[in-house]
Amino acid sequence: MKTALVTGSSRGIGAAIARRLHADGWKVYINYLESEEKALAIARELGAEAIRADVADPAQVRAMFRQIGEVDLLVNNAGIVVPGLLQDISDELWQRLRGVNLDGVFYCCREVIPQMVHRKSGVIINIASVCGVYGSSAESAYSTTKAAVIGLSKSLAKELGPSGIRVNAVAPGFIDTDMTACFSVADRAAVADETPLCRTGSPEDVAQLVAFLASDSASFITGQVCGCDGGLIL
Ligand code: NAI
Repeated sequence: MKTALVTGSSRGIGAAIARRLHADGWKVYINYLESEEKALAIARELGAEAIRADVADPAQVRAMFRQIGEVDLLVNNAGIVVPGLLQDISDELWQRLRGVNLDGVFYCCREVIPQMVHRKSGVIINIASVCGVYGSSAESAYSTTKAAVIGLSKSLAKELGPSGIRVNAVAPGFIDTDMTACFSVADRAAVADETPLCRTGSPEDVAQLVAFLASDSASFITGQVCGCDGGLIL
């Protein structure tokens, strides 16, 4: 049975990805930081193991991979958003944002790459954002981390392709999760109004794309930034 680690999978997009991969026959590891109750609940539901680790801490990431061993699929999904004008973002917030959204992806990739290269197979999927492709006003810091993740994904695709490893980024648009729960009903309606498919996205919309990219059906797809935004950005 192929194994997958989904970071930040106690809720939202990560939880949907874990459920979908499980349905497709993957043995899934749940990574979480704070929502222990939710992580344990989803782990019970999927017969999976939940592992607490802050992806921004290289020592915790190393310990997590020591516990898991080898994985065939790494989904770097854990992420935080810090909205606000650039000049209002403190050193601490910037370091945390970068730590989770970029360093976390770097640390997890660094752990899995040697074993994947050794086996000459593996898939890495990084959850970026439309903000990382097109930019977003009042989300410059967040967008910067996501743009960096896209750069990392493309470079790794080139670096690891000859070793049989595929690396892709997914760029979701507006997805209904805790991360976007602060948006008012009116703001949400305005986004849906601007979206050609006339709605906001669900975590399952993203999970289906990730499951496809993880599968052998995507065996000739690497280095791509796959949008999942209902046509919001065209
Ligand atoms: P969410 O806030 O519901 O879930 C994020 C998950 O990451 C949570 O389970 C959280 O505990 C975990 N996490 C945060 N920091 C962590 C850390 N240091 N170590 C381990 N886990 C950590 O958010 P959502 O919406 O499910 O987001 C998932 C990913 O999708 C994020 O990378 C986000 O930036 C990205 N995204 C979300 C969009 C949206 O509209 N919801 C749009 C574009 C991208």
